[in-house]
Amino acid sequence: MLNPGQRIGENGHLFIGECDVTTLASEYGTPLYVMNENVIRNNCRAFVSAFDKYYGGNGRAYFASKAFSCLEIYRIVKEEGMGVDVVSGGELYTAMKAGFPAEKINFHGNNKTYLELKMAIEYGVGKIIVDNYEEFGTISEIAKALNKKVEVAIRIKPGVEAHTHDYIKTGQIDSKFGFAIENEEAYRAVEKALEYKDNIILNGVHCHIGSQIFDVVPFADAAEIMMDFVAEIRNRYGVEIIELNLGGGFGIKYIDSDEPKNFENYIEIVSDAVKSKAKEHSMKVPFVSIEPGRSIVGEAGVTLYTVGGIKNIPGVRTYVSVDGGMGDNIRYALYQAEYTVINALKADKECINKVTIAGKCCESGDLIQENVMIADTLPGDILAVLSTGAYNYSMSSNYNRIPRPAVVMVKDDSHRVIVKRESYEDLIKNDI
Ligand SMILES: Cc1ncc(COP(=O)(O)O)c(C=O)c1O
Repeated sequence: MLNPGQRIGENGHLFIGECDVTTLASEYGTPLYVMNENVIRNNCRAFVSAFDKYYGGNGRAYFASKAFSCLEIYRIVKEEGMGVDVVSGGELYTAMKAGFPAEKINFHGNNKTYLELKMAIEYGVGKIIVDNYEEFGTISEIAKALNKKVEVAIRIKPGVEAHTHDYIKTGQIDSKFGFAIENEEAYRAVEKALEYKDNIILNGVHCHIGSQIFDVVPFADAAEIMMDFVAEIRNRYGVEIIELNLGGGFGIKYIDSDEPKNFENYIEIVSDAVKSKAKEHSMKVPFVSIEPGRSIVGEAGVTLYTVGGIKNIPGVRTYVSVDGGMGDNIRYALYQAEYTVINALKADKECINKVTIAGKCCESGDLIQENVMIADTLPGDILAVLSTGAYNYSMSSNYNRIPRPAVVMVKDDSHRVIVKRESYEDLIKNDI
């Protein structure tokens, strides 16, 4: 399997855009995150144009920047006309430093600190998505001191939870995120917001039903439940909710058997659900937002590693060790995330060896992938792990004091560093 913007060259090497990955590996070293700018921009455009088509400008796609946050991505997303969502002071700071317009930033998080909320209100972010009762009081206090009115949405648990291959449409009360509708806590949140109406404008509701979802039905179900909730807020409190944010979660291709739908398909079906509910409740169609993260950057990314030791344990397995690991990709250790691994020097060769790709960290669980088929691999070969653009760099750590890899952006036949490789000096810069 290859992702968009990738091909196998005549020399048998993997190419990203028009760049031979072995050239990238020798120029920048490994491990190395490589992102393809054209793929990112195409994904942004697919969401933006589908929104134009089905909502006629009455909506916006926000990039969920937890998936991949650095200055350059905010610049690209801004140019593509999307908003962004942030979940911490650090992501917000990065977006602002990149020149992102504050009014197109939504601020999320189930436990934002006082200082983070103050920062967001001072910057003038578009909306704060409130996720606990205490937040209303804190926002109101800060807004009052700054003589501002702050627009908020409430994060709702719609009772739909979807994972990759199945979904549950019952109570999802047991989640640290949001307020449930079924036990009325969502209504208590509305009442709380109304207590602070001098400084808080409640005009949005938000939900996010999960991640890496291929099935469009749970998205449409969630949209309908949220629209019923919006109608009930109007009926009970006379409050008009003008923005419906339906979160992210659109699935991407990690392995051959993954079959993502095209984004337009989701948006069409969900917009039908929203519009018919608006009609049923005699309401205006709200401004609709979504927050794709993985689907913007995931398939655009590849991680390159150099193979070191190879340990063949007869009758057990073969460990192929690489020069990175759980510090740059924690997702297999965290939840056994599946990936496609390619020997980037022998991308045209048959994958005849079953191996386990191990990292270099001092943890037995430091594996990138178990029991994958790859071409005959030798020390010094370059391995490419595909679809690592989301939740890899953004989840990276310095475990074992291993510096984080650089991030290189490829565009056609050009490439540039967008995040420098950390140095040993960087590792001790905050040590006293
Ligand atoms: C509130 C919210 N919005 C958007 C996203 C992005 O999800 P994805 O990357 O699956 O599109 C997440 C992911 O956890 C989320 O929690």
